Amino acid sequence: MIGSDRYRTHTCVGAADTNGATVRVAGWVHRRRDHGGLIFIDLRDRSGLLQLVFDPEAAPQAHAAAHRFHNEDVVSVSGPVIARDAKNVNPNIPTGGVELRVAEVELLSSSDPLPFSVEDETQEASEEVRLAYRYIETRRPKRLRALEMRAQIASVTRGVLEDEGFLEVETPILIRSTPEGARDFIVPSRLQQGKWYALPQSPQLFKQLLMVGGLERYYQIVRCFRDEDLRADRQPEFTQIDIEASFIEPEDIYRLIERLLVSQAEAAGVTLHAPFPRLGFAECMARYGTDRPDVRFGVEIQDWTAQAAASGLGIFEKAVEAGSVVRGICLPAAGGGLSRKDLDGLVTDAQEFGARGLVWAVVGEDGLRASVKGEFLQGLAEAFGAVQGDLICLVADTEDAALGVLGSLRVRLAERYGLIPEGAWAPLWVTDFPLVEWNPDQKRWDARHHPFTSPRPEDIPLLATDPGAVIAQAYDIVLNGLEIGGGSIRIHDRDVQQAAFATIGVDAEEAEEKFGFLMRALRLGAPPHGGIALGFDRLVMLLLGEKSIRDVIAFPKTSTGQDPLTGAPSEVDDDQLRDLSVRNVPPKGPAKAD
Ligand code: AMO
Repeated sequence: MIGSDRYRTHTCVGAADTNGATVRVAGWVHRRRDHGGLIFIDLRDRSGLLQLVFDPEAAPQAHAAAHRFHNEDVVSVSGPVIARDAKNVNPNIPTGGVELRVAEVELLSSSDPLPFSVEDETQEASEEVRLAYRYIETRRPKRLRALEMRAQIASVTRGVLEDEGFLEVETPILIRSTPEGARDFIVPSRLQQGKWYALPQSPQLFKQLLMVGGLERYYQIVRCFRDEDLRADRQPEFTQIDIEASFIEPEDIYRLIERLLVSQAEAAGVTLHAPFPRLGFAECMARYGTDRPDVRFGVEIQDWTAQAAASGLGIFEKAVEAGSVVRGICLPAAGGGLSRKDLDGLVTDAQEFGARGLVWAVVGEDGLRASVKGEFLQGLAEAFGAVQGDLICLVADTEDAALGVLGSLRVRLAERYGLIPEGAWAPLWVTDFPLVEWNPDQKRWDARHHPFTSPRPEDIPLLATDPGAVIAQAYDIVLNGLEIGGGSIRIHDRDVQQAAFATIGVDAEEAEEKFGFLMRALRLGAPPHGGIALGFDRLVMLLLGEKSIRDVIAFPKTSTGQDPLTGAPSEVDDDQLRDLSVRNVPPKGPAKAD
């Protein structure tokens, strides 16, 4: 390990193995206990804690200095590492069998009182304060471990991809906008006044151009920027493991990513088994109501439309007559013990997800208890295979709406009722996405992924006649209900690219204007190619069992896109704006949610 003996010869944990040797260690005063005579200090460095003992008789000067130490002072101490008496051994820390008897001490830096305690997370400060002092939060072992693990997973990633012949290539950050579906961050150009760069939402077009450029196998652990509303799994700048390869088919990507994810998970102590299951988009939506299903538990969506139409229950019959479907889920043993209030609360849950209503039914000892009465209950339990204690939830709506509500409800209730097995890992490929989706507001077809995604070869003729039926050679990788990556085989043929643009209402002129450089490259020897990008932050968050990607990013932004530590975003000098020919106009007010 590099480091000067001037400050330390060993780390705190490394010192524990030295068996009576005299060592020097350095770190932060984690905790001090003053026992009249002896003073005990837990010293903390990145490796962990080591107990220091200051004895007023053996080392009076060191003892006097220790008396004045505060929490989080930075000190360097030396002395012998001695085994503790059996009764003082602390089995909870790796160095709990030893202590360092301090002979000499040097205060390297003193600390003012902290805005919050490193040690005690029970009286937690607000996120705003913790982010403003992120470097203090980072001292917490859990935060340090997250960053160590992130680095470890990045290292494994490089190892696997390099072993597979991939080259790491950097792509520009100041670019022309690439369409990935989100809003761009833009940067004014001083040298080309009135013109703007965009920050990349991903290196999509550059990695394709690298394939035309003969790289064959590219990867990059790369920062991407998207100006979207933020959530626990979304940051305005985030990191992708970005991959592209030539002369490949989807199977090659599946095999590569499975090898990669198994190795990454292993680094985090998680076992994933390859090959991962695959599910076509249409079936996935019908069974789980989402294209990123959590398949750690069953509770699949079932169709009850036919039965509902003949149920005798007015609301259902009318809904079906008007073209609605009735779909439902059955949650094993979730109904047992639920009060009327709990059950009525399910309607509020469903409404939160956009449902107009919800019918619930619980299989009791003496038949069904339900939110509505009627004959229709006969046969309901059988249709859903429900047994005593099970809870059935039914939603009548358009197919998309019913699936959306039940897809969200399924996950929320599985979490609430403990239906997700502890320690389960469920990776899943979702394949066969439609190439385009109808945009009812704009009355046109939009690309579902990005407009460079290749249709299945057999569907190319449908681009002009029935775009909605075209299936893309696109795939997403989902882990425990979170989309951790997505990609596709790209269009490498100029005519197909032109036809794909035409389908989404981009005519030849606009294509030339916006993507002329890509169209040109497709005319100059473009190999068949495809790729994928994994959301690195999301992956690390999942593997570490964290709830937010902020927990695995060294300096994340708040949910309003701010950095309380540096105060970004901030105003800039008028001079800076003048140089750019940019003027502030009065703010529009709070940004509209996407
Ligand atoms: P896509 O847009 O699906 O694909 O992004 C790939 C993965 O990146 C992660 N991700 C995010 N993570 C954190 N914060 C965000 N704001 C955010 N947005 C996306 C997700 C997602 O699955 N160029 C294509 C890839 C390709 O076709 O090769 C792309 O960027 O985990």
